[in-house]
Amino acid sequence: MKYESQKVAYWFFSTCMLLFVLQILYGFIMGFAHMGFDNLHDFIPFNAARATHTNLLVVWLLTGFMGAAYFIIPEEADGELYSVPMAYIQLGALVVVGVIAIIGFHLNWWEGRKFLEIPRGLDFLVVADVLLFLFNIGMTMLRGKRSSSTAIVLYSGLVSAALLYLPGMIYFDNQLFDSYFRWWVVHLWVEGVWELIMGAILAYLLIKLTGVDREVIEKWLYLIVGITFMSGILGTGHHYYYIGAPEYWLAVGGIFSALEPLSFLGMAIYAVFMMRKGQRNHPNKIALFWTVGCAIMSFVGAGFLGFAHTLPQVNIWTHGTLVTAMHGHLAFWGAYAMIVLAIISYALPLLTGRKLWDTFSSQFAFWTSNVGMIGMTGAFAVAGIAQVYLERISGMDFLRVQEELEVHFFGLILAASLFTVGIGFFIHNFIRYGTPVEHTGVVEEVYS
Ligand code: HEM
Ligand code: HEM
Ligand SMILES: [Fe+2]
Repeated sequence: MKYESQKVAYWFFSTCMLLFVLQILYGFIMGFAHMGFDNLHDFIPFNAARATHTNLLVVWLLTGFMGAAYFIIPEEADGELYSVPMAYIQLGALVVVGVIAIIGFHLNWWEGRKFLEIPRGLDFLVVADVLLFLFNIGMTMLRGKRSSSTAIVLYSGLVSAALLYLPGMIYFDNQLFDSYFRWWVVHLWVEGVWELIMGAILAYLLIKLTGVDREVIEKWLYLIVGITFMSGILGTGHHYYYIGAPEYWLAVGGIFSALEPLSFLGMAIYAVFMMRKGQRNHPNKIALFWTVGCAIMSFVGAGFLGFAHTLPQVNIWTHGTLVTAMHGHLAFWGAYAMIVLAIISYALPLLTGRKLWDTFSSQFAFWTSNVGMIGMTGAFAVAGIAQVYLERISGMDFLRVQEELEVHFFGLILAASLFTVGIGFFIHNFIRYGTPVEHTGVVEEVYS
C-alpha cells in the first residue's frame, strides 16, 4: 500500500461483509416462504423480505465499489486521498440511511417499485452522500500527480451511476412512464455504467496480478467499454416489449440486447488471455482466482443466461417469472459480487499487513460459494421453467402453481446452504486478517 489514506477502504469492505450476511439471511426467509414455511409472515411479509434482500445487495455492492475506489484511486492518481474524515462521514451517513430504509420496509414504508423501493425522501439523502463520495474521489484525482485510463473509466462509471439514479426519482402518476424510467436506473446500471466500474477494477487487478503492460490492458478496456455502450443503451428495449411502449422496441430491444453478451464474453476472454500471457507469478493466487472467476461467471450469468430470455419470442413467456430470478442471481454474483470479493482479496493483505491469502479457508470459500451459486441458479431455472409451463402454457392459477413449485425450493435451500458455507469461510478469513495496523512493508515486498 503506497498511501496511508487507502486504509479507509478497509471499513467499507467490512461494512460490505456485514450487509452481505444480512442479505443472505433475508434470502433464506424468502426461500423458506416459497417452500411453504412462511412463519415470519406477520413480522416480515414476503414483499418486505424481498425489498430488503435486493436493496441490501445493491447497497453492499455500492459500498464495495466505494471501498475499491478509495483503495485504487490514491494509487492510480499518485497522491493521498483528499479527505479521510470526509470518507468516514460518508460511510457513516450511508449506513444510517440504509438502516432507516430497511426499518422502513418492515413498517411498510416503501415504494412498490422493484429495486427502487427506497422512499423518495430518503433518495435525496442517498444523492447527498454519493455527491460527497464523488467530490472526495474527484479532488483526489485532480490533486494527484498522475492520471490513468483505469482511474478515468472507474470515475466515469461512478459519476454516471449517480446521474442515472435521478430518472428513478421523477414522480409519475402513470404506471407506464414510471416503469419506462425505472429501467433507466436498473438496466442502464447493471448493463451499462456498472460494467465500466467492473471493467476498471478488473483492469486494475489484471495489471497488478499478471504483470502484463498497462498499455495493453487499458487498450482492451476501452474496446470493452465501446461494445458495452454500443449494445447496452438500446438494449434497454428488452424491458419495453410488453409494457405498453411503442412496438419498435420489439426489434430494437431484441437486436441490441442480443449483442450485449459480447462485452461479457470480451471480458472473459481478456481476463483469461492476460492471465496466460502474464509473466508474473504473483503470490496472491486467490485474488487472481476471484478476478478471472468474475470475468468467466459474469459471462455465464449475465451474457449467456441473459441471452436465454432476451428475445421477445421467449420473453413473452418468461417475463417476471423465476427464470428472471435464475438470471438475476448468477449475473449479480458473477459480475458484481465477485469483483468486490476479488478486490477485497487483493487489498486485505496490504491493508492489514498480514499474508493470509494462501489458506484452506480462502480456497474453500471460492469453490464452495461458486458451486453453491451454480446450484441455486439450477434450482431457480427448474422452478422457473416449470412455472412458465404450468402458469402460462397450461393456464393453471398463479397461486396453485406456487404450491406446485414448493418442492423445487428445497433444492434451492440446499444449494443456498452450500453457498452460505462458502461465504462463511470467506468472512472467517476476512476476520482473521484483523484490522489495519501500522505499516510494516512486509506485504508490499512480497507483492512487488
Ligand atoms: C451483470 C449484468 C446483469 C445483471 C446484474 C442483470 C440482472 C438482472 C435482474 C436483477 C433482472 C430483473 C430486473 C427486474 O425485473 O427489475 C434482470 C432482467 C433481465 N435481464 Fe438482466 N442482468 C444483467 C445483464 C443482462 C444481459 C447482458 C442480458 C441480455 C443479453 C439480460 C437480459 C435480461 C432480460 C431480458 C431481463 C428481463 C426479464 C423479465 O422480463 O422478467 N441481462 N436482469
Ligand atoms: C444464499 C442465499 C439466497 C437465497 C436463499 C436467495 C433467495 C432468493 C429468493 C427466494 C428470491 C425471490 C424470488 C422471487 O421473486 O420469488 C430472491 C431474489 C433475488 N436475489 Fe436472492 N437469494 C440468496 C442470495 C442471493 C445473492 C448472493 C444474490 C446476489 C449476488 C442474490 C440476488 C437476488 C436478486 C437480484 C433477486 C431479485 C431477482 C428478480 O428480480 O427476479 N440473492 N433471492
Ligand atoms: Fe436489461
